[in-house]
This record gives sequence, C-alpha cells and structure tokens, in this order.
Amino acid sequence: MKAIEITAFGAPDVLRPGERDAPVAGAGELLIRVAASGVNRPDVLQRTGNYPVPPGASDIPGLEVAGVIESGDASAMAQAGLKLGDRVCALVAGGGYAELCVAPVGQCLPVPQGLSDVQAASLPETFFTVWSNVFDRGRLQKGETLLIQGGSSGIGVTAIQMAKALGATVIVTAGSDDKCAACLALGADHAINYKTSDFAEEAKKLTGGLGVNVILDMVAGSYVAREIDCLAEDGRLVIIAVQGGVKSEINAGLVLRRRLTVTGSTLRARPVAFKAAIAQALRKNVWPLIENGRIKPVIHSTFAAAEAAKAHTLMESNQHVGKIVLTW
Ligand SMILES: NC(=O)c1ccc[n+]([C@@H]2O[C@H](COP(=O)([O-])OP(=O)(O)OC[C@H]3O[C@@H](n4cnc5c(N)ncnc54)[C@H](OP(=O)(O)O)[C@@H]3O)[C@@H](O)[C@H]2O)c1
Repeated sequence: MKAIEITAFGAPDVLRPGERDAPVAGAGELLIRVAASGVNRPDVLQRTGNYPVPPGASDIPGLEVAGVIESGDASAMAQAGLKLGDRVCALVAGGGYAELCVAPVGQCLPVPQGLSDVQAASLPETFFTVWSNVFDRGRLQKGETLLIQGGSSGIGVTAIQMAKALGATVIVTAGSDDKCAACLALGADHAINYKTSDFAEEAKKLTGGLGVNVILDMVAGSYVAREIDCLAEDGRLVIIAVQGGVKSEINAGLVLRRRLTVTGSTLRARPVAFKAAIAQALRKNVWPLIENGRIKPVIHSTFAAAEAAKAHTLMESNQHVGKIVLTW
C-alpha cells in the first residue's frame, strides 16, 4: 500500500510517499480502506521528533481516518452493528496517513449521515479529545462558561460548537482579529485577540468579575498563572498541550481559596477501552447534533496525500482556521 513516511525527524519535506506492507486486522480490529486522513498538530510534533510513537502503534503518522471497512474481526464487527463495506471514521494511535489502516472496532464510528469522507476524517481526534477533556475531566455543565485557548484550532472549532450546542457560554482566544471573527461566526459568544488584550482581565470583565468555570488550555507555560487568576470558584483548568512551555508558577493560595482543579491528559496512549467509551458517548450525545446540522465540520483545506508536506507547512504557518485533511 501507499503510505506517507517520516523519513527522518525534521522539516515538512521529510514526509515522503512510500510503499509499505498492508497492515492486518487482528482480534477486535477492522481494516479500513482510507479515503481521507485528518492532519493534527500532534502529527507535526511526531515529525519533528517531539512526540514518540506509543508502544505497539504504527510509525506512520496520522491519528484519524475515514473510509470503508475492507475486512476485520467478524464477531466484533457484528457486535458493533458494522459490516463489510460500511463507511466509518476512526481514531487510531498511528498509521492514518496510509491507503489502508487498522483500527480497534470500538474506536470506529459510522460516518454521520450527509458527511463527505473529508468531513468525516476531520472528526475523531478533536471530537474524542474535546469530549474527554471538556465534558469528562472538565465536567462542563449547561449554563457554565468555558474559555478556550486557541479557538480557531482544529480542537478549538470543535470545542466552540460542542460547548454551545450543550448549553455553555463560550469565550475564546485567538491570535488575530480575523481568527476572532471566525470563532464568533462559529457561535463563540466572545473572542479575545490574545496578542492585543490580556485574556485573563478580559475574561474576568466578560463574566462580571466571577471568572470562568472551565478553561481548555493548549498553551500552559506562563498562561497557567493567569488562568488560575481568571477561574471562578470551583473552576477547572484542563491542560491538553504545552505550546508555551512546561514550567508554570501558580498562586497556590487561589487554588485553595477558590477550590480549583488543575488537570490535563493526552489521548493517544490511553487504552482502547477508554477510547471506546468516549466513542459511545460521542455517538449518543454528539453524532445526532452533527446529523441535524447543529455541529458542522470546519475544513480549512484538503491536499492529496502525496502532498502531506504542504499540509504540514500550512499547519505550521498557523494560517488555518479548523482542519486540514489529506485525500487518497
Ligand atoms: N492532549 C491531547 O490529547 C491532545 C489531542 C489533540 C491535540 N492536542 C493539542 O491541542 C493543540 C491543538 O491541536 P490542533 O491539531 O487543533 O492544532 P492547530 O489547529 O494547529 O492549532 C494550534 C493552535 O494553538 C494556538 N496557539 C498557539 N499559541 C497560542 C497562545 N499563546 N495563545 C492562544 N492560542 C495559541 C494557535 O492559535 P493562533 O494561531 O491564533 O495563535 C492555533 O490555533 C495542539 O497543541 C495539540 O498538540 C492535544
């Protein structure tokens, strides 16, 4: 099969089309003939040597795919209500940038009605991550306020729509006025250009001094102290990336006086059963919202898979709003 390989750690041009043996689906797994593969920031980190592949996962990059079921474990498929030829999208721990990809049945979801392969391939990584971090770890409730750092990212555009659909008020940060406008168009209630305003001061003002209930943070570093400062009583800070560095100094007094929770997670290395539970929650709570048009995939651009290097160059330019997808 054709696959995009990381031929060495480095700049986007280390991504090259190559030939690999087709993977074989084992017990509880499906083989998917891939039509489209989503591109995510963790793929960029893997390419630069900053995100090691978890034990047992493919070294081919790519954490999400959409396509049709080519073969697989018949009884696991039947139990999941799937059959050969069905269109599915899947979260995978690697191997997504390839014509054929193996996925655990529990991490596969039917393509929501009306969605193209490109749209379906854009869903799993951000929808699993946002559900797990904002709603499970962050326990965001209807009527609460969520602050999303990086509102125009793939993660951000998903978090805005999911949190709005489930009844929260949403504040985002973004690095330009155009990106702020794009977030507002997706339903965010307020957008803060973090390059021209102090997000913590703005968030406090926007909440009448009460602070926000949950923060989805992909920056960390010096942001953490300011995030602690703008959290409401019983607020929850959920860290999913450390683009601003791993070291933070916090006011521990605020943590105890306001009964704050600081937490975080990474999805990729979690067990299949954990991801399968998220898949079920998404199918029940979120897939209907996609099928009725309340939540829409946000595709910035698509590239032929052989041009994966261009897709990574675009992602690193930070010009995109939403998702970048490769097609086969
Ligand atoms: N923990 C997990 O399980 C998990 C899973 C998936 C992704 N992630 C992480 O989530 C992040 C988003 O992933 P993605 O695929 O959606 O990537 P992406 O579309 O490339 O987004 C990266 C975002 O980071 C924002 N950003 C950078 N510096 C910022 C700052 N100082 N303040 C506010 N925003 C800032 C950028 O916003 P501007 O362009 O506006 O500056 C951009 O929107 C990545 O860091 C990724 O590693 C974590």
